[in-house]
Amino acid sequence: MSAVKFAPSLLSADFSRIAEQIAAVSDADWLHLDVMDGRFVPNITWGPKIIGDLRKLSKATFDAHLMIVEPERYVDAFREAGADIITFHLEATPHAQRLLAHVRSTGAKAGIAICPQTPVAMLQDVIEDCDLVLVMSVNPGFGGQSFIPRSLEKLREARALIDARNPACELEVDGGIGEGNLTEIVAAGASALVMGSSIFGTADPGATVRRMRSLLH
Ligand code: DX5
Ligand code: ZN
Repeated sequence: MSAVKFAPSLLSADFSRIAEQIAAVSDADWLHLDVMDGRFVPNITWGPKIIGDLRKLSKATFDAHLMIVEPERYVDAFREAGADIITFHLEATPHAQRLLAHVRSTGAKAGIAICPQTPVAMLQDVIEDCDLVLVMSVNPGFGGQSFIPRSLEKLREARALIDARNPACELEVDGGIGEGNLTEIVAAGASALVMGSSIFGTADPGATVRRMRSLLH
């Protein structure tokens, strides 16, 4: 497998000095952008305008995680704002296959996310339509929560599905990840790690990313 991607989540960054925070993690592979609408999840973050402004600060792959109802109404706006990967929740739309195809048609990579209560088997009929599967290892909405242990088994199940049907698909995991558990999470099959508080909660986020990466060698 190619190198594991590190995706710092700006949810835990200090937006009063966001340019500095983004520059600090320039060694990371992706920037993870959590879009929350106060309906799908009980928290609100930012929309396309903010992502478009952040786009001017970074050439990194922008990994947009839409935690919003009716994602089909907004994917074009996030693509125009500069999102390179657009991930929406399976639980948020009855027409996931159509939306995955639409995201791909915009030129973005198409991702699908599942909450902790959603079985990996629910992805059986759309796995070929995905460029990325995101297994949520916390209930989405907030940073700083604890990793749900059952997520490791879900990662193994998702890895088996991806290897059998769509080996190029990324397997991303999001929530409660840090230096203490990232090795076992990668061993379970993850190819991309989202981390918020364990990176931006440290004094030197760039050094933290480099140290974490060294744990995988
Ligand atoms: C949670 C978000 C995550 C969040 C993770 O709903 O999707 O991306 O930033 O935060 P940590 O890494 O602190 O659990
Ligand atoms: Zn996220």
